[in-house]
Parts: sequence; structure tokens; C-alpha cells
Amino acid sequence: LKPAFVFGTRPEIIKLAPVIRAFERRGIEPLIVHTGQHYDYEMSKIFLEELELHKIDYHLEVGSGTQAYQTGMAMIKIEEVLMKEKPDVTLVQGDTNTVLAGALASVKLKIPVAHVEAGLRSFDRTMPEEINRILADHASEVLFAPTEEAKKNLEKEGIVEGVYVVGNTIVDAVLQNSEIAERKSRILETLGLKPKEYAVLTAHRAENTDSEENLKKLVEIIGSLPIVVVYPVHPRTEKRLKALGLWEELEAKEHVILTKPLGYLDFLKLQKNARFVLTDSGGIQEESIILNVPCLTLRYNTERPETIKAGGNVLVGLEKDRVLYYVDKLLNDEEFYSRMANAKNPFGDGKAGERIAEILIGLYEKGELRVKS
Ligand code: UD1
Ligand code: UDP
Repeated sequence: LKPAFVFGTRPEIIKLAPVIRAFERRGIEPLIVHTGQHYDYEMSKIFLEELELHKIDYHLEVGSGTQAYQTGMAMIKIEEVLMKEKPDVTLVQGDTNTVLAGALASVKLKIPVAHVEAGLRSFDRTMPEEINRILADHASEVLFAPTEEAKKNLEKEGIVEGVYVVGNTIVDAVLQNSEIAERKSRILETLGLKPKEYAVLTAHRAENTDSEENLKKLVEIIGSLPIVVVYPVHPRTEKRLKALGLWEELEAKEHVILTKPLGYLDFLKLQKNARFVLTDSGGIQEESIILNVPCLTLRYNTERPETIKAGGNVLVGLEKDRVLYYVDKLLNDEEFYSRMANAKNPFGDGKAGERIAEILIGLYEKGELRVKS
């Protein structure tokens, strides 16, 4: 079996590393294609180094651009590689423009697509990610749903064949790296933090950063938090904060620590020891429930409803009063805090990567890994 992995952003590297390792353990050396959607050292290379993904066969250097430009350029360049390399299957993960480009380029060459983290739906079609998820799922032959709920979403769209519930590879990533992070990272010392005495915040979602009104609401929320907050800023958000003159406002607040995006080991350690997390990230909603850290999500919907049902995550949007209400409870109501912190992880046992490799190898051996006519 010759699998090709196509990835391009921070979360894809983190969530595909365990799958790549699972193939390697079975003596299969996959083809690795990096689209270059993320290109800053802190958004890409640091993860390749930390997760020891030293072999990138093709670096496509697509970079940033409009939705169509980025997706189109990635498609053209991925197609070239796939035509030359003729892999047996293309693996993509998640919902970025890289995923859509990889899936479309591949299926049209009749190379079957395996979508890792299939079936997630926010039901909000204004998000570029929702369009990418739907289209990538419909272009895929093999769909690795992380949960039963994701499988049901696929069923409702008529996708019933080739669906496997395997858990989410983020659990593999967290389990494989959190002990290393605990041992190696000095981030708490560097930032002068004590466990459970600070919060972590991240925000990069288009709806929160592109709109000036929403970004101002976010800054207002951060400014009024009654606890030290560490905020590793995504480059997209840094640019917007600086353009709108909001960066200085945040920097001036004594309880706010702004940092560059952090490497995975530092971020895991920071997250694990935080009192709670505020985020609009998908992966961080998942990680916080795995790490037993309460999560407040700065959005009005989520494609990870399992975290809400389990009780580890609350949608707070950009409503300052709502955010402060929950922050107060998390700081002062121990029973509430411990209920959220002890919510049960709904994303599986950390063996998703192994299952994915086994299933694909099995399908290949039975001659079933192909685009069906
Ligand atoms: C993308 C994904 C999003 C995912 C996120 C992970 C899409 C539509 N969005 O959003 O689903 O949650 O990655 O972080 O695919 N930039 C840099 N350096 C970089 C990368 C980006 O400066 O290394 C800046 C550029 O100004 C760029 C902007 O960030 O225009 C947005 O980058 P892009 O990759 O288009 O989207 P993300 O917001 O990162
Ligand atoms: N992450 C990181 N450093 C940071 C912020 C996030 O290593 O400064 C990791 C985080 O642990 C998670 C992933 O990046 O595994 C989430 O990526 P992001 O929020 O960019 O994307 P999303 O999950 O929303 O697609």
C-alpha cells in the first residue's frame, strides 16, 4: 500500500502525525505532501520538528490568499504530485482549504480519498470550514468518523458506505505528547505562571477576526477577565489586531500575556495546567476535555457538540456578560468547576491512528480501496 498524506496547517500536522506513525510501525513509508497553507516557523516547522516528521516529499508553497486562490493553487499543485506518484489512497484530515483541494484533486484522478475526522457539522454554511467538510466528505471513499454523532451526520446526507467510527486522532496526539510536554516544556517558568492560576485563550476564526465589531468585542472580553490570561496569537489575528490599533490596548493590560503561537509541547503544558480555556479553535475544544480543563467556546455553534453534551464545554459566543458569568463560576464555584473538569472525553481511546492504518491496509488487501463506479 502506498498512502499519500496531504496536509498544510498546524492542526492537520498535529492530528495526522499519529496516523503517519501507525503506517510506519507497519513498515509502510507514506508519501508526505505539505501544501504550505501555513508557512511561518511557529505555524508549521516547529510541529514537524517536535513530532519528528522529518521527511516532507513535496513542499508546495501555496501560501495565503483568497479562498478560491488558495484552494485552486493547492489543487493544481497537488494534482501534479498525485499524477506523478500515483498513490493508492490520499489521506486528508479536517476541514481546511488544503483538505478540500486534496480531496478534489485526488478523487478526480480516481485515487480514493480517506477523510480523517469525517462527518463533523456546525450547520453554519457561512463558515469556509463547513463547506470544506461537506464537500470533502462527499468526495471521499473512506470516512473516518470520530464519533457516532459524526457518523449520523453522514447518514443524513446519504453517506453510509465506507464509514468507520474510529475516535479522533487528537486523543492519540495528546496521549503521545502530554507526558513529554510535562517533562520538557519550561513554559510556566518562562511566563512566570503557577498551575491553575491562569487561563489560556486562542482566537483565529474568520468570523471573530475579520469583523471589526467582533474583534473589538473579543478585546473587550479579554480586557475584563479577572484572571491572568495567556494568549498565543495566531498570525491572522495579530495582523488584524495591529491594523485596528487593538494590539497596544491588549499589551497594556497587566493581566494579559501575549505570545507568538507556541509549539505543541509548550501549548499542551500550558493548556493542561490552565484553570480554564477560552477559544474558538476546534482542536482546542477537543483537547481541553481530554486534558480535564473546562472550555468556554467563543462561538455561537460548534461542530463538536459531544463536548457540550459531556459537560466540558460551553458556547459563550462573544457575549461579555455570558463569558464573565461562566468565568466567575469557574473561579469561585468549586462544584461547578469540578463538574466541567471531570467531563468524560467523547473522542475515543487514543488508538484512532492504529485503526485507520489497519482499516486502509485491510481494504487494500481485499482490492476494495478504489473509487467506485
Ligand atoms: C486555517 C483554516 C482553519 C483552521 C486554521 C488552523 C481554512 C479556510 N481555514 O485558518 O479552518 O482552523 O487554519 O490554524 O482553511 N498567516 C500567516 N502565516 C502563516 C499562516 C497564515 O501570517 O503561516 C496569515 C496570513 O495573513 C493569512 C491568514 O493568516 O492570510 C489566514 O491564513 P489561512 O491559512 O488562510 O487561514 P487560517 O486563519 O490560518
Ligand atoms: N496549538 C499549538 N500552539 C498554539 C495554539 C494551538 O500548538 O499556540 C495547537 C493546539 O494544541 C491544537 C491545534 O494547535 O492541537 C489547534 O489548531 P488551531 O486552533 O490553529 O486550529 P483548529 O483546530 O481550530 O482547526
